[in-house]
Amino acid sequence: MRQAGRYLPEYQEIKSRHTFVEMCTQPEVAVEVSLQPLKRFGFDAAIVFYDILYILESMGAPLEFQPNGPVFHRPVSTAKEIRALNDPDLFDETPGKGTGAILASLRELRRVVPADTAVLGFAGAPFTLAAYLVEGSFGRSGERIRRLLHQDPAAVHLLLERLADVTADYLSAQLDAGASAVQLFDTWAGLLGPEEFREFSLPYLKTVFTRLAERDALTVLYINGSAHLLDDLIATGARVLSLDWRQSMASARKRFGPDLGLQGNLDPATLFAPPDEVRRRTLALLESMRGDSAFVFNLGHGIHRETPVEAVAALVETVQGFS
Ligand code: CP3
Repeated sequence: MRQAGRYLPEYQEIKSRHTFVEMCTQPEVAVEVSLQPLKRFGFDAAIVFYDILYILESMGAPLEFQPNGPVFHRPVSTAKEIRALNDPDLFDETPGKGTGAILASLRELRRVVPADTAVLGFAGAPFTLAAYLVEGSFGRSGERIRRLLHQDPAAVHLLLERLADVTADYLSAQLDAGASAVQLFDTWAGLLGPEEFREFSLPYLKTVFTRLAERDALTVLYINGSAHLLDDLIATGARVLSLDWRQSMASARKRFGPDLGLQGNLDPATLFAPPDEVRRRTLALLESMRGDSAFVFNLGHGIHRETPVEAVAALVETVQGFS
């Protein structure tokens, strides 16, 4: 889950001197931001600083990060508009612009981070990227993309196929650049019912994970609101499932057996409780997974912007002190 962000004063400091685009696409800045949570809290992994949406910009969809979130100024919805998207140059490392900036940042992180600390790469999953491109800016319900699945399924499949190919190449390039593992964010796939998930997300997740399995990569899948999709998640081929907070980790373990990696799933809102309560809830999750060597403690989604730093400190102390 996102570690960096608006809750850290040192992040705010960098943000006061750079635009968000600069922070993501100038590797010196991105590396510094990636290292901030590691320096402060000693996490077991560094997640490279970047955003899942730039790949769409490099396919010809102008993107702006506005204070309330990302906006695509020319959303797409027809086969003609989808065909007009270009193939991205994944290796374009032009500072301040290219999609390849993430590769330069990963190489540098791998160089500076201790060998026993994982460096994580990531990308948006095909359905989630398609949803952003069709919606333009994201409302909670994904009304436009869900409508389009039924109005013009062929156009959506055309887009998803292209995105799956590009995403497999992109994550492969990130592994080559030094990522220890890669996480695919299908944040919005939880908006789909099981049948739509099986048609519009699952096959494309499979394409990406199958390609990455060929090189024995360590892969993680996150879907926000995935409890109703669990039976299908196993079919994606991801080696680790990252679960949101609306479900029980211990029940997921029973369902999946001992070998599949499971990651999650403390509600990020828990961090607004007093530190003692944060410790109590963190311990409860850890206890529920005691002895489970394929469990990775994490939040159940990205950290909120006003999160008190003391609460994160209480969480990290509790996890690191648990034996
Ligand atoms: O952990 C990290 O900090 C790594 C970098 C990272 C970012 N975005 C930087 C970012 C990662 C892994 C992402 C993934 C991402 N981006 C997802 C999937 C994960 C999830 O949240 O479900 C999604 C959906 C996006 C798209 C996106 N980027 C949104 C919706 C927003 C605005 C809302 C928000 O949460 O701030 C962003 C901006 C963004 N990307 C920020 C960061 C640190 C916040 C920028 C700021 O205000 O300083």
